[in-house]
Amino acid sequence: MSSELTVGLLGAGMIAGVHAHAYRAAAGVRLVAVADPVPGKAERIAEQYGAQVVPDLDAILDLGVDVVDICTPPTTHADATIRALEAGRHVLCEKPITRTVEEARRVLAAAEAAPGILSIGQVARYGPDHRLARDVAEAGEIGQVRMITHSTTTSLPGWSEAGWLADPATSGGPLLDQAVHSFDYAAWVIGSPAVRVHCMAADSGAGPNTYTLATVRYANGAIAHVECSWAHPVSRGFKLRAEIVGTEGRISWDYDHLMGGVLHQRESDTEWWDVLGDREFTRELGAFFDAVRAGGPPPVPATEATESLRTALGALESARTGRTIDLTTWETL
Ligand SMILES: NC(=O)c1ccc[n+]([C@@H]2O[C@H](COP(=O)([O-])OP(=O)(O)OC[C@H]3O[C@@H](n4cnc5c(N)ncnc54)[C@H](O)[C@@H]3O)[C@@H](O)[C@H]2O)c1
Repeated sequence: MSSELTVGLLGAGMIAGVHAHAYRAAAGVRLVAVADPVPGKAERIAEQYGAQVVPDLDAILDLGVDVVDICTPPTTHADATIRALEAGRHVLCEKPITRTVEEARRVLAAAEAAPGILSIGQVARYGPDHRLARDVAEAGEIGQVRMITHSTTTSLPGWSEAGWLADPATSGGPLLDQAVHSFDYAAWVIGSPAVRVHCMAADSGAGPNTYTLATVRYANGAIAHVECSWAHPVSRGFKLRAEIVGTEGRISWDYDHLMGGVLHQRESDTEWWDVLGDREFTRELGAFFDAVRAGGPPPVPATEATESLRTALGALESARTGRTIDLTTWETL
């Protein structure tokens, strides 16, 4: 591998644009190709970043890129990830790792057998506030973490191609698409696997199970409360509220927009409107490229992302059945 890393981007929707923007901050990384079946979408990103438009994943692989960055809907993640890994490439795949546990197991097997690095885009681990709070907790400044509250509430996102986010069969609704960030973050900070999940959910005009409240128990005895909604009024925007409570103290933060925030510098123009989100993704992608150069380990291992997927799917199952799901024994596809 030369010192420059070349990247092929699969999918040219909302998050692909954010990734493409974040590559600019990664030294020695070049976006060379973009593929998307919807006419005009790949062109928009390719033109902006000097890449070429190609028809599909096979064409990306034919170019011999070092890295495939998968930014397509979850139902396409497994096949694309496996194909790219089997072709010997490094893969960054957006969250959730896959739509189903069966698909995730196939991805894990492929990753085990392949030489490339596979990391999953559980980006909450890289949010400046989330990362700092975790570092403070890990340093023992609040004692032993016993409880996390993580709440993300908004309206049904309106940007997805042909509305796939509104289709639970594709997106899993907010409990999978959005709360998987909360489940992943909580398990990572607590540092212990989720063992039980209970969830209540209500329907709204945004779809089934779109107001949701879940509680999770971890193997070390800690607990988490995850609130997630796509059923709040559009005009209210995105709100995040988080608290980590330990035996010796607590940390909390909250804000009105997930990727809001504008940096006004004294001597220069205002930075990109999405400066906080930009930093989150810049850090995520930077950590991935560093891992590729170092030969591993992956910053967000597929095994951990699979546990976050199982917790989200367990919450959906709990909401459906009214049962508490024992994740240590639960078998699901
Ligand atoms: N980390 C985050 O905070 C975050 C935020 C948004 C989305 N995501 C994730 O990113 C992924 C994409 O979401 P999005 O919001 O960008 O959706 P999107 O609908 O805006 O974009 C997805 C794109 O993939 C394209 N596509 C579909 N099948 C394809 C295929 N086989 N080959 C190439 N392109 C294909 C679609 O045409 C579309 O342009 C999802 O897994 C989603 O969960 C993560």
